[in-house]
Amino acid sequence: MQNLIESTGLNKSFSLGKDYSVSVLKNINLNVRPGEYVSVMGPSGSGKSTLLYTLSGMEPKSSGRVVFNNMVLDKLPEKTMSRLRLTEMGFIFQHIHLLKNLNLRDNILLPGYPAKVRSRKSVNHRASELMELTGIASLAGNNITQASGGQLQRVGICRALINEPDIVFGDEPTGALDSASTREVLDLLGRINAMGTTVFLMTHDVKVADREQQLASWLREWGC
Ligand SMILES: Nc1ncnc2c1ncn2[C@@H]1O[C@H](COP(=O)(O)OP(=O)(O)OP(=O)(O)O)[C@@H](O)[C@H]1O
Ligand SMILES: [Mg+2]
Repeated sequence: MQNLIESTGLNKSFSLGKDYSVSVLKNINLNVRPGEYVSVMGPSGSGKSTLLYTLSGMEPKSSGRVVFNNMVLDKLPEKTMSRLRLTEMGFIFQHIHLLKNLNLRDNILLPGYPAKVRSRKSVNHRASELMELTGIASLAGNNITQASGGQLQRVGICRALINEPDIVFGDEPTGALDSASTREVLDLLGRINAMGTTVFLMTHDVKVADREQQLASWLREWGC
């Protein structure tokens, strides 16, 4: 099976002043196949967000190669890269970045209209479906101060999925949540993955990274 995303010899340093730079990613070689559920684990400051930004081209790499869907990313013009990120990649950011002057539904719709992949009517329909799936349909008209942290995280997940991306990158998607909401969000990501979307998570939490343990505990709960 071909890889959906692969990196070879990926390096990233940040320059801090004239003579000093910090090397964050060193020779990262990874492959993610379509439909996989992959977690990258590391402590705070180890470079998880940098990996996500560099793999998706949001942050330029220092050297190495990233291939996504058979396209070598650094050969693509920025306009094509932006379109790729809009339509084929979904992002659940560490800091959710919702717009406070839009209600929850409009925050979800936001990347849907400019993508122009489908009609506004079908983007609206998809937003409704996603809000049903994630259990926030009744909050559609609320603004972001009228929702809990877990509910806002689910808004972020819906927004990431609005254009039916091939891959969803989650950067500590449960970082700000209590254990019950964490479980709900992980359950949701598991279901999204079961529907065919590749999931690529960055986390410092072994419980979030350990998908097998998660599946085993759900199976126990369901008496399987
Ligand atoms: N724009 C930048 N300029 C300079 N250094 C940076 C920049 N962005 C990140 N770094 C440094 O790169 C390292 C990795 O940061 P990164 O945010 O990727 O870590 P992380 O694993 O996501 O951490 P956390 O779990 O706290 O989110 C840190 O030492 C950070 O200080
Ligand atoms: Mg981070």
